[in-house]
Amino acid sequence: MKRFFIYVLSLLVLASCGGDKTTVRLADNPARAVNFDKTYPIVDSLLRVMTLEEKIGQLVLYTSDWDVTGPSIRDGYVDDIRAGKCGNIFNAYTADYTRQLQEIAVNETRLGIPLLFGYDVIHGFRTIFPINLGISASWDMPLIEESACIAAHEAAAAGLHWTYSPMCDICVEPRWGRISEGAGEDAFLGSAVAAAMVYGYQGKDLEDPLTIAACVKHFAAYGAPQAGRDYNTVDMSERWLREFYLPPYKAAVEAGAQTVMASFNELDGTPATANAHLLTEILRDEWGFDGFVVSDYTGIWEMVNHGTSKDLEDACIQALNAGNDMDMQSGGYSEYLAKAVKEGKISKKTLDEAVRRVLTVKARLGLFEDPFRYCDAEREAAETKTESNLMTARTLAEESCVLLKNNNNLLPLNKNSKVAVIGPMADRADDLLASWRGAGQVEGVKSILDGIKEMAGGVVYAQGCDVEKPGQAGFNQAEYTARSGGTVIMVLGEPCDWTGEAACRTSIQLPGEQKELLRRIAATGQPIVLVLLNGRPLDLSEESELADAILEAWYPGTMGGEAVARLLFGEASPSGRLSVTFPYNLGQVPIYHYAKNTGRPYVHHGVKYESRYLDCENEPLYPFGYGLTYTTFTYGKPELSAAEFGPKGSITAKATVTNTGSKEGTEVVQLYIRDLVGSVTRPVKQLKGFERITLAPGESREVEFEITPELLSFWRKDMTFGPEAGEFRLFIGPASDCQDFVTFKYNK
Ligand code: BGC
Repeated sequence: MKRFFIYVLSLLVLASCGGDKTTVRLADNPARAVNFDKTYPIVDSLLRVMTLEEKIGQLVLYTSDWDVTGPSIRDGYVDDIRAGKCGNIFNAYTADYTRQLQEIAVNETRLGIPLLFGYDVIHGFRTIFPINLGISASWDMPLIEESACIAAHEAAAAGLHWTYSPMCDICVEPRWGRISEGAGEDAFLGSAVAAAMVYGYQGKDLEDPLTIAACVKHFAAYGAPQAGRDYNTVDMSERWLREFYLPPYKAAVEAGAQTVMASFNELDGTPATANAHLLTEILRDEWGFDGFVVSDYTGIWEMVNHGTSKDLEDACIQALNAGNDMDMQSGGYSEYLAKAVKEGKISKKTLDEAVRRVLTVKARLGLFEDPFRYCDAEREAAETKTESNLMTARTLAEESCVLLKNNNNLLPLNKNSKVAVIGPMADRADDLLASWRGAGQVEGVKSILDGIKEMAGGVVYAQGCDVEKPGQAGFNQAEYTARSGGTVIMVLGEPCDWTGEAACRTSIQLPGEQKELLRRIAATGQPIVLVLLNGRPLDLSEESELADAILEAWYPGTMGGEAVARLLFGEASPSGRLSVTFPYNLGQVPIYHYAKNTGRPYVHHGVKYESRYLDCENEPLYPFGYGLTYTTFTYGKPELSAAEFGPKGSITAKATVTNTGSKEGTEVVQLYIRDLVGSVTRPVKQLKGFERITLAPGESREVEFEITPELLSFWRKDMTFGPEAGEFRLFIGPASDCQDFVTFKYNK
């Protein structure tokens, strides 16, 4: 430790000034991260004295294997740290253990450069929030930011500097298990969520030991694998990529995210890991990103399997030259970069630039000032799962749940009423934490059944069947239980490890015997509330007929049991709206709200040659943006401040929303726009704004949106980004299937 500080001091004294000025362009709130403009002379000083091997060490990232998040293909990371061959570690945490490793790096290596500790803090660290698909269904950006801020506090106190989040992958593919990790199907909503998370993690000052660096992943288009199978080929036009997939990554970069993770997939025939178009042309040259790029887990090694590199050495050369600064876990940079630099296959400049980027992020985190500022055992104990963190988790869990059906206002149930709880997911507390649960522990987590017991007047319970295995031996008991209680609450879903990485399905039905169990219970005639725990849009076409009420609860996290019970019994009221379309069945997939009109849209019902199915509607079961509340809202027709505007102007659009029910409720007011004629085809409707408002019974509010040229912009025929003159339709409503519109003109 002493040695480290003496060393740093001497470097600082020797350092020439101003060599390291770097700037991140922030989108809308430049005050957020105050140290991005600061210069760090130590970075230049270090670069001047580092050996080739020491430089390469800074580009190497190994797992500690505390958590297994990919194939374990190597060990010996502690020796590598000591030898200066590994400057970054992931999957290791706790104040004590990170301190132990940091001491090796700082005191036992020649230059004492601190380690960077990364981890998948995806929806919480110790306090686990709902899965990200659920979080995005809250449409509540301040609360999402707060959840990321809490996650950062807890993680930073356990020695972590860097989270592999936000996951910005747009997805319209429910077979893909990782749809659960993202913000759903839409670029506009996804961008808002991505920025909120970056702000939450990174705070106002990255040097503050309560903040951690964000990592935008998986760049790019990882959420569009063919056939919904993880790691599979991705191919789409540049136009589609830029309009519907890139915006959330860009929003996260503009919010100041310090790092970006290259995705596993190929795009247009080149693995993202070594895709210079993505990693250099778009990310750095167009967007001005000045942090570092890390590969995904063994991503560099996998280029040999992709068939674009003849061996690992070749893969390393391609990856670094394309802009991939850090090698996660393939071991290739460690083994081959020195040779490649000596042979001139990688220039010294390219290597130095990569090292500079990594060291700059370390400097921005304040690690050169105090490498141990994040490993504080006292703070770790004090910050973890505090009452206030748990309350935020409960609120976010409540806000993420989406009420899909509520016949005859079956919900909310009277507190203290008798209920029968049935279903294999009811008593599985562990599943509430989902995949990518950070360091979340199941101890003390209440299941949905536990939560209900605290609210209801009497509870009888039967599991009914297993979640996934065949067997109907429990059905009779479940039927008996259904008849003996009051309202039936069925808790069904997918086991949580059926979503997340490498957890794809070819069916989006409830697994096992659960649907049959629902049929049998429905046959008893008892009113049924169906609570769903799952991480993807499911085919609920039959369930939506059989159940009287349906609450989509996703995997709601540490406080999910209480949150769901509070919603069921009216202590809280549902306000979530779907961030992804729920189809009638898998045959409709991909289905999303920003579809194009086609040359033969389905309008003249009964005519054969139209874009339609013979055996199913075109519309989904539940559209994007949809969700019920315990009250009702009406919308006045949208009104415009003017019927036209031009490049330097804007207009406002507003609608009056009224709570016409008898309970307070929260509405997510949504703005959609259609560009009627474009130089290329445009979506029939596209989300362009939203606002969450809470209204008392009888209360009305005017909700206003500003319509700017930027909002109308898209990638035009000539691949420039901007608006085109013409006529537009504007919709303000409660979901993407809203119909009332007004028209306006945009003039050149
Ligand atoms: C995943 C990433 C994750 C990384 C590190 C990979 O398998 O794709 O999302 O950040 O492992 O755990």
